[in-house]
Amino acid sequence: MPSRSRRAAPRRVRAREESPPTLHSRDDLRLLWATPIFIRRLAPPPPWNAALERRIRERQASDPGRQRSNYGGWQSSDDLFESDVHGGELAPEFQELRALIHRALLDCLSAVMPEGAVTRLRTQLSAFANVLPRGGYHTHHVHPGSHLAGSYYVNAGRPDPGNPHSGKLCFYEPRAGGAMLHSRLLGFAEDFDVLPETGMLVLFPGYLGHSVHPYTGPGARITVAFNAYLQESKT
Ligand SMILES: [Fe+2]
Repeated sequence: MPSRSRRAAPRRVRAREESPPTLHSRDDLRLLWATPIFIRRLAPPPPWNAALERRIRERQASDPGRQRSNYGGWQSSDDLFESDVHGGELAPEFQELRALIHRALLDCLSAVMPEGAVTRLRTQLSAFANVLPRGGYHTHHVHPGSHLAGSYYVNAGRPDPGNPHSGKLCFYEPRAGGAMLHSRLLGFAEDFDVLPETGMLVLFPGYLGHSVHPYTGPGARITVAFNAYLQESKT
């Protein structure tokens, strides 16, 4: 047996070397209008996560919130990364989250842009908090005016054994004609669900329609949603 294992190893190496080129290196194929969805899991959540949740709860206690796509929940205004509720310096937890989001933006963009191009981009970032109690949900919406948008799950809540879809983030087919011919294999007219986890960060194009299934677990689901506007630097 040992001698057969040693003989098999070189064949596996050769198979990798002779594998077809990646899609990106083919000159007879263009992947146009591809839709990047970037998911980063931080497990365990960062050490500042619990303090971030406390900050958001403090803000909720002093801010009536606003109504957008959210139903049955609270949403802050989109100045979460500008200053704290008292106008002082931005709390360190928000600074940490802002840096985390910025890093994820660069990593995502680096994967979809030509090599080195990401260094020519300047990013404007705004963010708002959501607290979604049991029964709360977000209707279908896009993030107008943002190139990339996303959510960081400060507290994804707890599962509902009777509802596997509780709190799922659902993305919809963005191509206008995509719904004309359903194909699971080709991804035509297929929705894509993400089951949130505490410490998860999800990035997607701002044009991409999405919604949040009703959260039916105990407690509340807490997220920070954000919008990124990108500008090409002149220098
Ligand atoms: Fe959204």
